[in-house]
Amino acid sequence: MSKDVYILAIESSCDETAASVIKNGREILSNVINTQIEIHKEFGGVVPEVASRKHIENVSDVISKAVEDSGKSVEEIDAVAVTYGPGLVGALLVGLNAAKALAYAWKKPLIGVNHIEGHISANYLMKNNLQPPFMCLVVSGGHTHIVHVEDYGKFNVLGRTRDDACGEAYDKVARALGLGYPGGPKIDKLAKDGNKDAIDFPRVKLENHSLDFSFSGLKSAVLNYLNQNKQKNIEIVDADVAASFQEACVDVLVDKTISAAKLKGCSKIALAGGVAANSRLRESMKSNCQLNNFDFYMPDIKLCTDNAAMIGSRAYYMFLNEEFSEFDLNAYPNLEIGK
Ligand code: KG4
Ligand code: ZN
Repeated sequence: MSKDVYILAIESSCDETAASVIKNGREILSNVINTQIEIHKEFGGVVPEVASRKHIENVSDVISKAVEDSGKSVEEIDAVAVTYGPGLVGALLVGLNAAKALAYAWKKPLIGVNHIEGHISANYLMKNNLQPPFMCLVVSGGHTHIVHVEDYGKFNVLGRTRDDACGEAYDKVARALGLGYPGGPKIDKLAKDGNKDAIDFPRVKLENHSLDFSFSGLKSAVLNYLNQNKQKNIEIVDADVAASFQEACVDVLVDKTISAAKLKGCSKIALAGGVAANSRLRESMKSNCQLNNFDFYMPDIKLCTDNAAMIGSRAYYMFLNEEFSEFDLNAYPNLEIGK
């Protein structure tokens, strides 16, 4: 039997400082996440400069705790992985420099990981034995992609948003409803008390058979609805707005992912990214997969939003191929998937 592989992974692309030790790409030995949500809440969104400073303050403690919690010694760790894009450049550089310093001092290989590929790999941490190929809907605060995962390291993007990311639309609608940051979980909760059929918000499908998305029209439709009703002094039921907006997002997301899987003859569909934590999306994708005979996979809710465990999982498959990075690896805020 071949030797077990232990990877220390670090993630700092946005407002979570995270570190994790992963065994053989599939088993979480430790998963430490220090979130800055409480700090950025005051500003209504992530302030990049503040995020970088907080990462600097926290990164050493988060990494030490991840190694300690894992029960593994530094000698047993085979590689140091880190997110190098996409994300906020100043935030990424903190994790990247910490990873470089450790890899250099410990004489271990450095593995630069794409954050989106990490989100997809969160599905491998579920003891479900998921193996490619599968169709994955990646929905986060910065990205909305339909990705055909042809192999562990082979990603074919079939569709993407042409304007706002889905999570961004959630956050903006939440702000208009006065729910605060981050809006996704708040809309999710409020929508449970609302009627999803109350308001007929647009389902933007774009050209025939396009797998791309557009959420800016939906966002504007919600903002117009709120403004017009306020002007006319018509009572607005916030829960109905949340539920109807959410349903318009989920309908399009599910519909296009199922079409993509049919197009490529995939038998499996997976969810990934922060918005994959959304209860209505999870429920609707699951029931539509059952209806259409697809096997359905999704990460635990805490593995949907940013974490380092997913980075460690992605890095394992890069480790097997000896896809190591040089020590001059830079941060790439707009890094594309599959690059
Ligand atoms: O993946 P993530 O943690 O960060 C990025 O890579 O962008 O995603 C954060 C996004 C935010 O827009 C947040 O509002 C959204 O995920 N989100 C949700 C839920 N939980 C987080 N959106 C809808 N429903 C949720 N339950
Ligand atoms: Zn993310």
